[in-house]
Amino acid sequence: MKASAVAPANIAFIKYWGKKDKVTRLPLNSSISMNIDAAHTTTTIEFSDNNSQDQIELIGGQFSDGEIKRIEAHLDRVRRIAKISHHARVLTQNSFPKSAGMASSASGYAALTIAASEALKLSLSEKELSILARLGSGSACRSIPDGYVYWVKGEDSSSSYAYSLHSPDYWDLRDIICIVEESSKKVSSSEGMDAIHSSPFADVRLKYVNQALKSCVQALAEKDISTLGEIIEKDALNMHAVMMTQTPAILYWNEQTIRLIGLVRQWRSEGLAVYFTIDAGPNIHLICQSADEQSLLQKLRPIAGIRDVLVGRPSSGTKVTQKHLF
Ligand code: PMV
Repeated sequence: MKASAVAPANIAFIKYWGKKDKVTRLPLNSSISMNIDAAHTTTTIEFSDNNSQDQIELIGGQFSDGEIKRIEAHLDRVRRIAKISHHARVLTQNSFPKSAGMASSASGYAALTIAASEALKLSLSEKELSILARLGSGSACRSIPDGYVYWVKGEDSSSSYAYSLHSPDYWDLRDIICIVEESSKKVSSSEGMDAIHSSPFADVRLKYVNQALKSCVQALAEKDISTLGEIIEKDALNMHAVMMTQTPAILYWNEQTIRLIGLVRQWRSEGLAVYFTIDAGPNIHLICQSADEQSLLQKLRPIAGIRDVLVGRPSSGTKVTQKHLF
């Protein structure tokens, strides 16, 4: 009853912000993302009679008590499906800083879901795995299928899941992730989005987003980088406008984030097709086509304040691996 899985993080082109139901993590809107290979989580799990309690550890870091409780609740979901009561040992490793607005919860819960269901031989379909991952962390459902992914908001828990729009090799986009801060974010996305309705712009966002989803699907189908890029940027700014006008207000950006937004606009006016997006943290993701990767990296090199740059390529979804962490 032991298995391991590797899950990619994903970067949303159209963001998920707000839940219709907190317990089942039903989103208020559908969203679209790309899985990225540079940022992934590996998890090994073993269920055994010999464990008197769940033992959950992160290599090179530490989970908070709240995070441990949330992971145990996810293990309980899997145990209920398998009709077992065995405790588990879980060891997990991220290839990137945890809680830096990089959706470590997405790759984390996707890896945990696939590793646990493989260990218990649950034989779930991709749709069922995506639903199960969503119960752990909403955006985790998008890390299950391959490549470019659509998470349909659904009407209830059994109809809210993610599926692949395009394979990873459909379009060689890049997500150049500029890490400007490595410490944990002050307000988790899960907690932050629960206050969405305190923003006067929440309803405006939910009305606008349906058209944005359609336009994003079309821009992906046409491989139209300038249209896609503009949609991505606009959606990130739209979500952050909601965050900033919630009570209490959340401002995830720092000076570097704003500086890079300005530089992206400047580089674009000079002819480089690069666009930005930002999740629940100060780090900024630069989206471009593979042909522009080197020019962009060259421009980023001299800029002070960028602690690290990760080059994300489109990735397959979560897979079982034989490389166990213990
Ligand atoms: O499911 P969570 O708690 O990781 O929420 C992710 C929310 C954002 O990263 C801000 C947007 C998104 O769609 O990824």
